[in-house]
Amino acid sequence: MSEHFDELWTRLAPVGRNRTTGGYRRYSWGPADTEARSWFTAAARARGLDVAADGNGNLWAWWGEPGGDAVVTGSHLDSVPDGGAYDGPLGIVGALAAVDELRRRGLRPRRPFAVAVFVEEEGARFGVPCLGSRLLTGAITPERAGRLTDADGVTWSAAMEQAGLDPEGMGSDSEILGRIGVFVELHIEQGRALAHTGDPIGVASAVWPHGRWRLDFSGQADHAGTTRTADRSDPMLPFAEAVLAARRAAEEHDALATVGKVRVSPNGTNAVPSRVRAWLDARAADEGALRAVVDSVDAEARRSAAEHGVTVTGFLESKSPLVRFDHSLRDRIAARVGGTGGAVPILTTGAGHDAGVLATAVPTAMLFVRNPTGISHAPQESATAADCRAGVTALADVLADLADA
Ligand code: GLV
Ligand code: MN
Ligand code: MN
Ligand code: MN
Repeated sequence: MSEHFDELWTRLAPVGRNRTTGGYRRYSWGPADTEARSWFTAAARARGLDVAADGNGNLWAWWGEPGGDAVVTGSHLDSVPDGGAYDGPLGIVGALAAVDELRRRGLRPRRPFAVAVFVEEEGARFGVPCLGSRLLTGAITPERAGRLTDADGVTWSAAMEQAGLDPEGMGSDSEILGRIGVFVELHIEQGRALAHTGDPIGVASAVWPHGRWRLDFSGQADHAGTTRTADRSDPMLPFAEAVLAARRAAEEHDALATVGKVRVSPNGTNAVPSRVRAWLDARAADEGALRAVVDSVDAEARRSAAEHGVTVTGFLESKSPLVRFDHSLRDRIAARVGGTGGAVPILTTGAGHDAGVLATAVPTAMLFVRNPTGISHAPQESATAADCRAGVTALADVLADLADA
């Protein structure tokens, strides 16, 4: 099994890696993402799987005839800016290696079986995470998705079309969704829980509610060397106060709040900016705490904007409710992975996943592979080869059990 994993991993590893930072820049429908999707298609076909894109651009690789009550595994290939190697690809390479492992064991699924690659999981290019699974389940309309734009103003529809897919085919797809009997996603852990417990594998129980909000601060661009302080309408100031408010609110409500992306116009050293556009990512264990964080940031942004003669407008860009993964499926998987008498850690996470979106429609579950430093969404994200192998073995065990192989 390990040779299969290593061989697949080695082929995919250079795709989209930036030589300077060592991080990945695989953005949906861009050249690296396209290359990664081609890699997947070729690797799945080499295994005798039938690969096709659905109307939303997600890839489906069927082992045998597509059909109802299918066992499906998969993840995503796109990355955040300068992301790590494992977030997403581990679940895809792991799925293909699990297929190899089932074959090596002489097993063949009795239930229909597929590997899925979901598009734009990170929302790094078009802003809404898990866009492929949201479209599939109807959590976002094709009209809204089609109009989403990237930093250059290219719409999702246009990008899809450039990639050779017909945007007319977008939207919730009850036929495809109806085929999924169960979905299991293998994923790198994006925290330090398994490193602390000393376990290579964990099972997910829940995903925190989370979302993305955009704040547009508008003032007056002016000369940095001649505009008196009293005469300025500088949007940088309420922006900065909103960032600090986000940190304070996160601490107060035991939540997480991040401003990781900002655009300043016109972005000149010697000019007061005219506009600051900032994105707030907020997550909390419950909806009340999440709401409280966002309300605090919003209130401080408005207060400070008024103080500085700036206008501010807030937008909700995406929201993901609390997800509790299917209990009986989780217990069945934990029993498999934990083995006789062995317990496996059950983890909640603040990270979003396609499995979380699909959970609204079908029973879903997640397996996490230990990440020694816990760092994720950064080039330092890591997993040992032995833990990746343990992840593939666990996934193969689970899939064999579920698919009655
Ligand atoms: C995606 O990984 C997210 O949770 O932001
Ligand atoms: Mn991610
Ligand atoms: Mn991911
Ligand atoms: Mn994610």
